Amino acid sequence: RTWYDPRITPEVFEGMKETWMDDAKIQKVMQLFQDNIERGLKKATHKEAIVKCFPTYVQDLPNGTEVGKFLALDLGGTNFRVLLVELDAGKCDMKSKIYAVPQNIMVGPGAVLFDHIAECLADFVHEHKIQHEVLPLGFTFSFPLEQRGLCVGILERWTKGFNCPDVIGKDVVELLNQAIDRRDDVKIDVCAVLNDTTGTLMSCAWKNPNCRIGLIVGTGNNGCYVEKQKNAELFDEADMGSGNVIINLEMGAFGDDGCLDFVRTEVDRTIDDLSINRGRQQHEKMISGMYMGEMVRRYIVQFTEKGLMFGGKASDALKEQDRFSCAFVSDIESDQPRQYTRLRDILRELDLSHGSEQDCINVRYICECLSRRSAHLISAAMVVLLHRMGESNVTIGVDGSVYKHHPHFRRLMIQKMSELVRPGISFDIMLSEDGSGRGAALVAAVAARKKAETGK
Ligand code: GLC
Repeated sequence: RTWYDPRITPEVFEGMKETWMDDAKIQKVMQLFQDNIERGLKKATHKEAIVKCFPTYVQDLPNGTEVGKFLALDLGGTNFRVLLVELDAGKCDMKSKIYAVPQNIMVGPGAVLFDHIAECLADFVHEHKIQHEVLPLGFTFSFPLEQRGLCVGILERWTKGFNCPDVIGKDVVELLNQAIDRRDDVKIDVCAVLNDTTGTLMSCAWKNPNCRIGLIVGTGNNGCYVEKQKNAELFDEADMGSGNVIINLEMGAFGDDGCLDFVRTEVDRTIDDLSINRGRQQHEKMISGMYMGEMVRRYIVQFTEKGLMFGGKASDALKEQDRFSCAFVSDIESDQPRQYTRLRDILRELDLSHGSEQDCINVRYICECLSRRSAHLISAAMVVLLHRMGESNVTIGVDGSVYKHHPHFRRLMIQKMSELVRPGISFDIMLSEDGSGRGAALVAAVAARKKAETGK
């Protein structure tokens, strides 16, 4: 039995084949990814490297004994969040509040963005009546940061929907501290700045010591993993302890030199052309939630314009850019096979109630093709990491809306990875419970403990 419905319109079936990741393509992608990681890690090639492999300075994995109250900030997905996390002997209690980041703040001067963050933080600490305590804070900042220490992070560039150009090249912790100083009604102690992938790895490692990879498949896509210190040539800290370094791959940028053009399609090129970071994050654009719905929409429009779907009539709603959200893809694929309940609701929302059963079959197939491609590309990247690490049993901690809400993503990954992984290596995939929040608190906790021990 095939994974697709045999009733798909033949031209639609053929037209989507360009999104299939056959073995030859996958093997080539894997080889390229492996080469890119090498280039990112090595001092001699890091500067020109596309996949940056930034050392994180997060060295100690939590051991479950962390105790105390911590604050966490989480910026980089669809929302901004402030969290109060209480750790006590393996237990974790979290209170959090979500704040919107208005579009005009996402793309504007950095000071406005950081003032907004400080304002939300002030609102939160007042609400929880902790404005007079100086709590250690972990800042999850999910963009490419070149770290110069655990609490120094220089922004390399913006990704996803953000673009505040004057922040590039600056230390985001300093910008946060400055914004807080401008207010005078909160005190904080920023102990650590980290990527969401690192937070995810930490929050899983807290429960499962085999966890060695953190993965995000959400608005954006990225991963981090535990590398031997001797291979992380950019890491210059003397006091190593574990001999390992967590590397933030920033693998969303994979392909920015054109090396993935052999898998990219016309639709990928259009998505890139219309994005605010044209030419950047090519791997991320083929994988993550910020782009997946729009890709599906573009294929539907294409086939409709060729007269192959919806009687050749696309509604105005369907023609609107970004109108087809990634959540639709998860919803549509959550319908039982050959049932189109949610799909019909979505068609109604898009003024496409005139769709026939044949249209439903095709729409579902288009969704499946793009979510499969995403899962297969991720699987290829994960297997490269597993092979690099060469450990027999590695757990991958995963978070992000696509992974969490898509009904088959996990299964697709497990199937593809099992096919690709070499004998003797086994893996497990574990859902992270709020890595960006809890992980940030854990990193802050470990850092605060160290500070107390060493007085540094
Ligand atoms: C983007 C960011 C990266 C982050 C990922 C997932 O790729 O550049 O830092 O980890 O999105 O949120």
